[in-house]
Amino acid sequence: MKIKLISEKEKLPKGTVLVEISEGKEVKFTTDSLGAEKLIFGVGKKSELNLRHFFVFCRKLIRTAKGYKIKKLALNFNQLDFPKIKLSDGQKARIMAEQFIIADFDFNKYKKEKEETAIEEIFIDTHGLTQTGDGLPHKKLKEAFDIGILVGKEVNYSRELSNTPGGEMTPTLLAKKAVEACKGTGVKVSIFDEEKIKELKMGAVLGVSRGSEEKPQFIVMEYNGLGGSVAKNGSGTQEQRPIVLVGKGVTFDTGGLSLKPGDSMLGMHLDMSGGSVVIHAMATIGKLKLKKNVIGLVPAVENMPSGNSYRPGDILTSMSGKTIEVLNTDAEGRLILADALTYAERYNPRLVVDVATLTGAAVVALGERCSAIFTKDKKLEDLMREFAEKTGEYVWPLPLWDEYEDDVKGHFADLANTHKDNSRWGGAIEAAIFLYQFARKYPWVHIDMAPRMVSTKNDYLARGSTGEPMKLLVKLVEEYN
Ligand code: BES
Ligand code: MN
Ligand code: ZN
Repeated sequence: MKIKLISEKEKLPKGTVLVEISEGKEVKFTTDSLGAEKLIFGVGKKSELNLRHFFVFCRKLIRTAKGYKIKKLALNFNQLDFPKIKLSDGQKARIMAEQFIIADFDFNKYKKEKEETAIEEIFIDTHGLTQTGDGLPHKKLKEAFDIGILVGKEVNYSRELSNTPGGEMTPTLLAKKAVEACKGTGVKVSIFDEEKIKELKMGAVLGVSRGSEEKPQFIVMEYNGLGGSVAKNGSGTQEQRPIVLVGKGVTFDTGGLSLKPGDSMLGMHLDMSGGSVVIHAMATIGKLKLKKNVIGLVPAVENMPSGNSYRPGDILTSMSGKTIEVLNTDAEGRLILADALTYAERYNPRLVVDVATLTGAAVVALGERCSAIFTKDKKLEDLMREFAEKTGEYVWPLPLWDEYEDDVKGHFADLANTHKDNSRWGGAIEAAIFLYQFARKYPWVHIDMAPRMVSTKNDYLARGSTGEPMKLLVKLVEEYN
């Protein structure tokens, strides 16, 4: 999809469909008396339309146009003035571009016979408010659209990785994709192989990956937007201390010996969605040349049952030195994240955010409309909620109280990877409190994105990965001080 800014007088190519925003409810594709094709798009009362509606409006417009196999659309920027939305033209432009691009995406690379529904071009008439003396659309507005396009595309690349079947997205292949994604962006990628992971004593990563023929990989992405080298081991000023993003990279989750039933296993190639989001958030941050130091960490493994698998009852020694009793091999995400959170310490981070498709329980608690967030820091919680509203990638907090801590103390080891007495309640919280045991040394937010792993009804997004919460992470890095 190309997004082109035009001035009023410019002639549109043949077959371009004009979008007309109406206050009604219905959506109609018509031809007017002069033979011009129009998409009449009802948005309800303009005075009622808020930012949340606007995200959906942008996506619904694109999915509707695709449904009609429209290839070229024209839209008047001035028609999108909604009194409840308090955004600058630039902010609105970025959001429009992001939402248009993610709505246009379909995962169809495996289809031999595919309907080509992708939209070729959108012409945005910026006449009036944004024209400069030479009749060209305002440079700043164009820049804002371009940023939105860049971000939207990276979200789609992340969805492409997440949607790819497990056999074609192994830890090794995911690591390769990270190298490709970050090429030329200023993000330095290092891949740790099994040897190096052993050297680092990441016993939890090694435990989970043991049952698979696929070797574990630990992906490290370093971006130093402030210049010089990334501050390590407590060196550097507060500003130089990096933000560390950690993504769960389980390329397929069978549950291991605590095998999942077939129905629950389907879709578990998407269990590296946190990892793919972090990879493409890093690429985006590099491409936007943000003046921040940021680190991305993705432990990548496959969780398989075999004669060599880790067993329920096994005790793993994590990189932190803490021992972990494996009560359930299907609670693998928190194990690999434990080692990644320990590894993060060496950067002396000013903030660590992890993103993981961690628990089905988060979906039970919240439904499919937002990710769960956990943090001890009220300010961070508020910040995350604010950025979630600004990006349309919603989050909602669940408790991370001390009272839960006892639940994950092991009977025979320091910790247990699920509730020590097998209680089934509050699974998302139990997972979070487990992670917290490895994240005490820095400000930390955990995002359980299982609820947003795949799109749901009325999202106006293609079936499969949503690419969330990539825009949220990028916004956080842009604005965190
Ligand atoms: N990857 C799953 C969680 C998941 C389930 C994500 C459904 C998205 C959709 C995770 O590794 C897992 O298996 N969690 C278990 C934890 C349990 C064994 C304590 C779960 O949620 O059932
Ligand atoms: Mn699992
Ligand atoms: Zn998992």
